[in-house]
Amino acid sequence: MAKKTVDDLQVKGRRVLLRCDFNVPLKAGEITDETRIVAALPTIEKLRGDGAKVILCSHLGKVKNGPNEGESLAPVAKRLSEKLGTEVKFVNIDTVTGPEATAAVEAMADGDVILLQNTRFRKEETKNGEAFSQELADLADDYVCDAFGSSHRAHCSVAGVTDAIRAKGGQCAVGYLMEQEIAFLGNAVENPVRPFVAILGGAKVADKLSVIDNLLEKCDTLLIGGGMAFTFLKAQGYEIGASLLDESKVDYCKEMLAKADKLGKQLLLPVDAVATASFPDPIDAPIDTVVVDVDKMPADKMGMDIGPKTAALYAEAVKSAKTVLWNGPMGVFENPTLAAGTLAVAQALAESDATTIIGGGDSAAAVNQMGLADKMSHISTGGGASLEYLEGKALPGVVSADDK
Ligand code: 3PG
Ligand code: MG
Repeated sequence: MAKKTVDDLQVKGRRVLLRCDFNVPLKAGEITDETRIVAALPTIEKLRGDGAKVILCSHLGKVKNGPNEGESLAPVAKRLSEKLGTEVKFVNIDTVTGPEATAAVEAMADGDVILLQNTRFRKEETKNGEAFSQELADLADDYVCDAFGSSHRAHCSVAGVTDAIRAKGGQCAVGYLMEQEIAFLGNAVENPVRPFVAILGGAKVADKLSVIDNLLEKCDTLLIGGGMAFTFLKAQGYEIGASLLDESKVDYCKEMLAKADKLGKQLLLPVDAVATASFPDPIDAPIDTVVVDVDKMPADKMGMDIGPKTAALYAEAVKSAKTVLWNGPMGVFENPTLAAGTLAVAQALAESDATTIIGGGDSAAAVNQMGLADKMSHISTGGGASLEYLEGKALPGVVSADDK
């Protein structure tokens, strides 16, 4: 990549601020998915091995009401210590930076690792405020961003800090996770081995507007599932009953269907659906379903998953692909009765010899839940970040690193 990476740095004896995405799910203080912690280890190990003093930082959660124990990074420090086999000292101060953090850094030996408190405990973090960026930079000599999942955020610890580091002669690079994510997502979009099949799902068309538009230009076949398929079906003139409809996006869907036609791309929509009388509540509650062709959707039913004919059709499309990119579930996969479509697509990817890339968020969760994670070429650690990347947007976390 055209950006400096950790391999370009000489860090022996230097203080390196390493931004990771440790925004992991927690339940009663316990980490329920350590994927993002494991994904951060190679860069941490590399910097330690090279004799850097590694100062880790990350956000956790949205932090709506200021510092609080439930969004403390303490559980991450503990898990990291176990994973690295060395103590990761946790600098547990709500101001993140300040005298205690400075003292903790001063006490470090080469190869030591410490973790700062949740960067969003400082409300300036999300505003990319200069003062907090400067305070973070003051703790370190160089900076590495390996927080792919946060790289779409122009925040102090992702972007602002780089100016302050450079201003004092330090270097700013990206880590191995960033490199890997960009290599897989970037290659899929810019340089795919064809045929390239993209699969998009999820509830709302509105969330995927630019992704659909951008991917249509890059892929050979686009498969659409999930709640958003019904707005497309409506655009084709189908009655969709009580299914999710984004009225204001019907014209957009018509445009995309026309664009696919014009570009000679295949855009496939569901031919059948699993329908219910209501949304399951709770989401995993037992529920009665009917399978209907999309031209026979009853007025009082809502489509909740792609049907078996669609699943077979999509699996067939995946079979002939050399590159597959998947973002967004095909149905309400959190409910076992409504997970068959998502499972069928996941299985088709698992059985394929193609390069298979899973966008983060729900599709990653689905693949994990189904135990198929190790069958995929790459699962992104970024939800919003991978979507923005697929939209063709520049990511602040990448842009702000030094050019090679
Ligand atoms: C995520 O989980 O999507 C990333 O960690 C970014 O978090 P955010 O959406 O709160 O910025
Ligand atoms: Mg997010």
